[in-house]
Amino acid sequence: MTQSGSWRERILQPDSAVEQMKQKAALRALEEVESGMKLGLGTGSTARYFVDGLGAKVAEGLKVVCVPTSEATRAQAEGLRIQLADLDALQRLDLTVDGADELDDALRLIKGGGGALLREKIVAAASDRMIVIADDSKKVATLGAFDLPVEVNMFSHGVTAAAIGEALAATGNNGAINLRGGADPFITDGGHYIYDCALGRINHAEGLAQALLNVPGVVEHGLFLGYATAAVLAGDDGLIEIGNL
Ligand code: A5P
Repeated sequence: MTQSGSWRERILQPDSAVEQMKQKAALRALEEVESGMKLGLGTGSTARYFVDGLGAKVAEGLKVVCVPTSEATRAQAEGLRIQLADLDALQRLDLTVDGADELDDALRLIKGGGGALLREKIVAAASDRMIVIADDSKKVATLGAFDLPVEVNMFSHGVTAAAIGEALAATGNNGAINLRGGADPFITDGGHYIYDCALGRINHAEGLAQALLNVPGVVEHGLFLGYATAAVLAGDDGLIEIGNL
């Protein structure tokens, strides 16, 4: 695939159809970026195309200042010489662009498949707009086929996991709760563990979100409710936009 235009000559050239879709969604979101903006940079394979495209535009003079949502994204952005800042210094962001593991018609999301949900949610909450970029396989009628990640403090995390099970049951949800990584647990950028909840379908997402946050030891969960303002989904037939870009 040949990309026309000077900044486009600098960006990744994905081979597979699904990777090309992810890039198309990312480049559509990139059209929303203007010089002078403060941006949140998402995490994952789709957000990587956004950061890559942003870096190509920065190399041509675009001025933005960005907050990365993971150490992986920080490393990518630094490699592309994208200006970074602490969220504490910026306080508010104009726009965050990030991927998702699932989204529904109401722009409710499951995130955290890549383990970055805590910083992703802090950054999303500080953003005036959040655009989700994904291939259209991420769009679902009901959230929950993707395991819901719940980030927990390491201290007595087995007790926390049991309490997560009670919170699930109390809100009409059931399923296995698995420590990510098992005997060799995955550790997040914040130094926590993740339990993945295999629910199949999520009932009462708002109630579940609150019940999980009420469990001592739960740091954050992967339900993003009320954060995304728009989504760009790429499929075989082109781009679909949900919400107001
Ligand atoms: C990272 O923790 C996640 O929330 C990602 O944004 C999500 O998993 C989407 O990743 P992909 O774009 O790689 O599917």
